[in-house]
Amino acid sequence: MTVKQPQPGELEPIETASRDEIAALQLQRLQWSLRHAYDNVAPFRNKCQAQGVHPDDLKRLEDLAKFPFTTKADLRDHYPFGLFAVPRDKVARLHASSGTTGKPIVVGYTQQDLDHWADLMARSIRAAGGRAGDMVHVAYGYGLFTGGLGAHYGAERLGCTVVPMSGGQTEKQVQLILDFKPDIIMVTPSYSLVIAEEFERLGVAPEQISLSMGMFGAEPWGEGMRAEIEKKLGIDAVDVYGLTEVIGPGVASECIESKDGPVVWEDHFYPEIINPETGAVQPDGEPGELVFTSLTKEAFPVIRYRTRDLTRLLAPTSRSFRRMDRITGRSDDMLIVRGVNVFPTQIEEQIMRDPRLSGNYQIHLRRDSHLDQVEVRCELQREVAAHTTSAQVEQIAHELGHHIKTLIGISCQISVLAPETIPRTLVGKARRVFDERPKLI
Ligand code: DLL
Repeated sequence: MTVKQPQPGELEPIETASRDEIAALQLQRLQWSLRHAYDNVAPFRNKCQAQGVHPDDLKRLEDLAKFPFTTKADLRDHYPFGLFAVPRDKVARLHASSGTTGKPIVVGYTQQDLDHWADLMARSIRAAGGRAGDMVHVAYGYGLFTGGLGAHYGAERLGCTVVPMSGGQTEKQVQLILDFKPDIIMVTPSYSLVIAEEFERLGVAPEQISLSMGMFGAEPWGEGMRAEIEKKLGIDAVDVYGLTEVIGPGVASECIESKDGPVVWEDHFYPEIINPETGAVQPDGEPGELVFTSLTKEAFPVIRYRTRDLTRLLAPTSRSFRRMDRITGRSDDMLIVRGVNVFPTQIEEQIMRDPRLSGNYQIHLRRDSHLDQVEVRCELQREVAAHTTSAQVEQIAHELGHHIKTLIGISCQISVLAPETIPRTLVGKARRVFDERPKLI
């Protein structure tokens, strides 16, 4: 593991610019972005008018606090393209992510947005120590999820050789890594440990694996997991953060020389930390909910998007941009299961589709040999139970598992229990989720 320090001239000038230069660029871009969203996205304009603010009111960066937030509910209410700021025929690509129920949330990119995204992912890979000519094995999923294609085009932009493996097929992953000898892997932290275990099973020692660096994200992970991944794969492991609504991976990414939290690419995304209860902006260093405003996006500008991710903003170190701390939790009930975002309400919706099941359910999460396991416990309606055979119960479980797999994207163990076996909550909110996965350290 030799850490590649950036050489003079390798960084973009803005990465080492003064804070004043960065603030001046941000202000100019923020004014453009607010105006662009106001002129072209009717729901945003309506919200501004209801709140009595206009893009002209933004004279300083701090004035952003006067503007309304955007939430996942806004994306749901204007599904699929209602928040797009360009005509549909200017949209070069769509991606999607989980909504809280039913329909996913959909985002769009113009060709220029895709170019900026590739530039930012190239910058992220370079910050992680990657260089032109390196071979990159992409094991993030390809498709509507932003991980695979985001990593892919960034690596190509940097001049790397890309192996678009996508997720799953662990034996094949390992085979290709052994045969092609990539330098870099891009994968969720939990799946990287499954790959590492397969190497162990084959008797391949970490020093025999060609990889020297990996970029991990899409789900929470901690320093304990970093140490384990680094040891088992014999690599440097860095953190890459992002979300579909803002662009995908590459909103922030860690530098290999400092490994002290992802650097927010502040020339394209303006970060704020707010108190999730009051919405008040918090000073740097204080914990709260991360909020992003896009500064350059054309097709899908987001103004004060509430990520629901809890973290802090930290002072710049290896670059002039501020950093973010690890994500410590969420201010909503979204679960991340093997890298897939899941809302309990999505599972509930599938249970409620089957009239033979009562509305009582529990979701249990465990982690067995590095992979998240989900068990959904539900129960039969009393009037149905008396005349339901065990074969029919199995069929109910099979159907529910199938719906959850095909519509939400995760495999679950389904337990269909006898009526009234799931404890009722008599006071307060029912506890639906029992997350017994180890806490991050
Ligand atoms: O997970 C984008 C991505 C792909 C990021 C590949 C990094 C690598 P979504 O599916 O929209 O997008 O999920 C976004 O995942 O709000 C966080 O809660 C969580 N998340 C993403 N990166 C990290 C990270 C992609 N490095 C949601 N650490 C976000 C902790 C992360 N949580």
